[in-house]
Amino acid sequence: MDSQRLFSTLPPTIEWRDGDLLLLDQTRLPHEIVVENVADVQSVWRAIRELRVRGAPAIGVAAAYGLCIAMRDSTALPIAEFRAALERQAVWLESARPTAVNLSWGLRRMLDRARATDAHDAAMLYQALVEEARRIHEEDVALCEGIGMHGMALIREGSGVLTHCNAGALATTGTGTATAPIYAAHRAGRAFKVYADETRPLLQGARLTAFELQQAGVDVTLIMDSAAASIMSQGLVDLVIVGTDRVAANGDFANKIGTLGVAIAAHHYGIPFYVACPSSTLDLHTAGGARIEIEERAAEEVTHLAGRRVAPDAIQARNPAFDVTPHALVTGFITERGIVKPPFEHALRSLFAAEGNAA
Ligand code: MRU
Repeated sequence: MDSQRLFSTLPPTIEWRDGDLLLLDQTRLPHEIVVENVADVQSVWRAIRELRVRGAPAIGVAAAYGLCIAMRDSTALPIAEFRAALERQAVWLESARPTAVNLSWGLRRMLDRARATDAHDAAMLYQALVEEARRIHEEDVALCEGIGMHGMALIREGSGVLTHCNAGALATTGTGTATAPIYAAHRAGRAFKVYADETRPLLQGARLTAFELQQAGVDVTLIMDSAAASIMSQGLVDLVIVGTDRVAANGDFANKIGTLGVAIAAHHYGIPFYVACPSSTLDLHTAGGARIEIEERAAEEVTHLAGRRVAPDAIQARNPAFDVTPHALVTGFITERGIVKPPFEHALRSLFAAEGNAA
C-alpha cells in the first residue's frame, strides 16, 4: 500500500508525474500541506539537505528521480556527454547528506542501469533512467509491505510500542518501516498503544509520526524524548521499534540522534528492541558502526526553537543528527524477508548476499 492510499487526505511523499518530480514538503507538516514541484537538480539537492524530503528510503527514491530531473533537459546531448554528465550529477547529489546509505544506493542503482543500457541516443537512455527510478519507487512500497507482514506478529493486543523519530509512511513511499508493523496490526483490528518520542531538535516525532499515526486512527501518545525511560520504567512499553539510516555488516546501526539512549533504556528494562530495516538500508560493505559517517547539522537547530534563540549568545553547541547503536542492544532486524536474529553478520549476509549494498 502506498502512502497516498494510507492517508486519503495527504498527497504522496514523492510523486513522478508526467516528467515532473513532486515532493510533499515535510518541513511544513503538520499544519500546512505544501507540494513542491522540484524544477532542477539544485532544488532536489536542497530538498534533501533541508529535510523537505527525509527518511532514508524516501531520500533514496528522491535521489533516483533527482537524477532524472538532472538529465531531463540534456537529451539532445551526444550520448557520451550525457553519460559523463550523469556520473557528475550523481556524485553531486550524493553529497546532500552522508548518513542514510539509501542515497548512494539509489544513485548507484541508477548508474548501474545506465552503464548496462546499450542506448543509441541520450533520449533512450533518459527513458531507461526514468524506468529504473520508477522501479526503485515501486520496490520501496513493496519493502514496507514485507516489513509490515513480518513485524505485525510482534505487536499483540494491548501492547505498548515505543518509536523514535519518523520511520513512517512519510519517510518512505509506502507504509513506512518502523510503522509498517504498526499499520498492519492496526488494519488487522488489534488494539494497542504507540508512544512517539518528539525527537529533538527537528521534532520529526511530534510533527510527523504523531501526525501520520493520528491520521490513520492509531492510538498514539506523544512524549518528550527525555520521558522515554520513565515511561518504560512504568511498564507501559512492551516493545520498541525504530527505523534506521544504515545497518553495518555486524548489525551496528545508525538512526536519529537519541536512538542509542532508547536502546540502552530498553536493555535496562528488558524490553525487546527491534530495528525495521529494508534491504535498501543495509550496508554490508561497512564492517561496524564506528565507520558510519554521522551528519553534523547547524548549531542553530539546537540553539533556536521555532526560529527564536533560546540559548545564550555565542554558546558552543553540537548537533549530531544521528547516533550509532551497537548490535548487542538489538533484539532483531525486521526486514522484508523476515526477522533477523543474532548473530547478525551471518544472518544478514546469508539473507541479502545478492543485494546492491552487499554485492
Ligand atoms: O533526519 P531524518 O529525518 O532524515 O532522520 C530520519 C531517521 O532517522 C529515520 O528513523 C530513518 O531514516 C529511517 S526512515 C524509514
